[in-house]
Amino acid sequence: MRNLITSLFLLLLFNSLAAQSRQKPINERVDSVLAQMTLDEKIGQMTLFTTDWGSTGPTIRPGYREDIMQGRCGALFNAHGVTFTRELQRIAVEESRLKIPLLFGYDVIHGFKTIFPIPLAEAASWDTEAVKASAEVAADEASAAGLHWTFAPMVDITRDPRWGRIMEGAGEDPFLASVVAAQRVKGFQGEATFDEPNHILACVKHFAAYGAPFGGRDYNTVDMSERMFREVYLPPYQAAIEAGARTVMTAFNELNGVPATSNKWLLTDLLRHELRFKGMVVTDYTSINELVEHGVAADEKHASELAVMAGSDMDMQSAAYHRFLKGLVEEGKVPIERVDEAARRVLRLKFELGLFEDPYRFCDEQREKEVILSDRNRSIARDVARKSIVLLRNEGVLPLPKETKKLAVLGPLAADKDNLIGFWSAAGEGRHCVSLVEGIRNKLGENVELLTAKGCEITGDDKSGFARAVEMARQADAVVVAIGESREMSGEAASKVDISLPGVQEDLVKALMETGKPLVVVLMNGRPLTIPWLGENAPALLETWWLGTEAGNAIADVLFGDYNPSGKLPVSFPRHVGQIPVFYSHKPTGRPYQPNDKWRSQYLDESNEPLFPFGYGLSYTTFEIGSPKPDKTSFRSGEVVKVQVKVTNTGNREGEEVVQLYIRDKVASVTRPVKELKAFQKVSLKPGESKDLRFTLFEKDFAFLDQNLEWTIEPGEFEIKVGNSSDNVKAVVVERVE
Ligand code: GLC
Repeated sequence: MRNLITSLFLLLLFNSLAAQSRQKPINERVDSVLAQMTLDEKIGQMTLFTTDWGSTGPTIRPGYREDIMQGRCGALFNAHGVTFTRELQRIAVEESRLKIPLLFGYDVIHGFKTIFPIPLAEAASWDTEAVKASAEVAADEASAAGLHWTFAPMVDITRDPRWGRIMEGAGEDPFLASVVAAQRVKGFQGEATFDEPNHILACVKHFAAYGAPFGGRDYNTVDMSERMFREVYLPPYQAAIEAGARTVMTAFNELNGVPATSNKWLLTDLLRHELRFKGMVVTDYTSINELVEHGVAADEKHASELAVMAGSDMDMQSAAYHRFLKGLVEEGKVPIERVDEAARRVLRLKFELGLFEDPYRFCDEQREKEVILSDRNRSIARDVARKSIVLLRNEGVLPLPKETKKLAVLGPLAADKDNLIGFWSAAGEGRHCVSLVEGIRNKLGENVELLTAKGCEITGDDKSGFARAVEMARQADAVVVAIGESREMSGEAASKVDISLPGVQEDLVKALMETGKPLVVVLMNGRPLTIPWLGENAPALLETWWLGTEAGNAIADVLFGDYNPSGKLPVSFPRHVGQIPVFYSHKPTGRPYQPNDKWRSQYLDESNEPLFPFGYGLSYTTFEIGSPKPDKTSFRSGEVVKVQVKVTNTGNREGEEVVQLYIRDKVASVTRPVKELKAFQKVSLKPGESKDLRFTLFEKDFAFLDQNLEWTIEPGEFEIKVGNSSDNVKAVVVERVE
């Protein structure tokens, strides 16, 4: 009895102390833990190791369990699932000296187990709620699997489809990418109070300008003007930080001569002082050690000093801080205050997540069973997927009739499942995907006879399967042919100099087209491809990217008209790789293209124009977008310009249109792009229905960096251009007056 009373007393005492502790401001609680820590333990909090459960980089260090017990790492990545994370967390909070809980991170880029469209595809939806819903489901599943932190959103602008990681961002435009970045952060973090264990820390990456490597070659040099950096590449990082992203990841690349991981201007002057980021900076995978290869560090100890003093708080997988930081502090090269600052930032995250109160609050087996791959999540994934599809051509073929009796579903990706999850597919599994053939079968049931064959592989020159495929096409009422890339052909370390369709896939389409049957080409790819022949000859062409677990159902929804495609390209599709970079918001130059005038900025052997431009996408209905009507023809400092635009569904089918608003500063003290996206609205209209859309343009929308890199607005005329694609707009002029 006495023991029972003693135990009850101690329990009450512990709870009351914990309750008092919980009431203390987090900073005080952080400091109280920090005060107990040795230098080794502080450095441990600055160290992130991968487990051997997955490989997302060149090295894997053995012995992470011992590292945890010895307090040598404060966070792990590539570990997920309640069982595994609970096991590792137990080591930390029961066997280490100070029992500081671990942070578990993972690349939950577009879904955890229920895989959503690749981020580039989601950006093509221009649907801000869909983008947020995707991140929310990803966070719900990841947190149910014991994870606290995702290394997303990746917000790197790129205008170079040779770069495989184009699949991971939101395309070429800073405005669209900024909207998408903020929505993803809000989806991952929720209100960022973490009161419930169903949201996770976001990590905006890769800071900065990783998407502009020379030659489109991953990890290559990045060198650009500060103007270009601030106007084009910086905005999405800023938007993610303003949306509350708790962590930032440094990029592998150098920026203008200084690698991001040791770039004090980037990580401290810009990120901390200008953008006022208060969270934690983690490096990318072994990027501290790579400072030696960059040639800015004599050895890995020197690299550690450069990185920590520049502002890198946590070392991902280099084990550089683990090996050298103590010596650097003892030698006086790194002040202990810098180590304390970095360790505080890590501890603060763990307090925010409630891990000190309950290290296992993200380890709920029951919730893991209920949440992951739920019907609800699959339904949301299907909705986001179909909204991400872009209709590029349709010569009266789509939608296919549901009464189709015999359908040939051909091509190397027709029955494929494994590629549908794309690159960076976290714990996703191809076996959970709905293939295109399965999606069509689900849609049409047993009323249709499906004839399926690959016809060819994705790569290689073997055409021996053509004859069988063509014969099936001849027997069918219509043909759907799924072609594209394999998932490894885009993503990290997947740069290409030839971005045309691999293998003999285009020849397969040509052979099938000779049958004269109604034919739909379904593209599955992670990057824009140079497909000029298809782009000008395919009877119908759907860009479906990699749509994830519900791909087949989503594509079938569009093929048979249960969903009217509404996607718009977030990135230009070049006609030829030689045009790169080709993007809509280009400068006019002093010799803009004029037909039949040789002495102009043009190619002898190719057009200047992309095959498909930014913002382009067709529908099964038609829309009429009226001229923009500004509420004033001239505006002064401090005034906004309200713009009204009437949009009408002039077709016979309900549909959604993305009305895009661009501006052009006609004359300025520095050259300005021919147009820049400043607003958009996605609107659903019934046949014959009209809506008056209202946009508000603020001072910042007219501003640019002057020759001194100061934001300014100059008097003069601005064109306001509105339309349903960057190459299809109606303009009106307004004037900024002193
Ligand atoms: C990779 C990627 C980064 C990812 C990290 C952890 O190399 O560059 O985006 O989050 O390593 O997997």
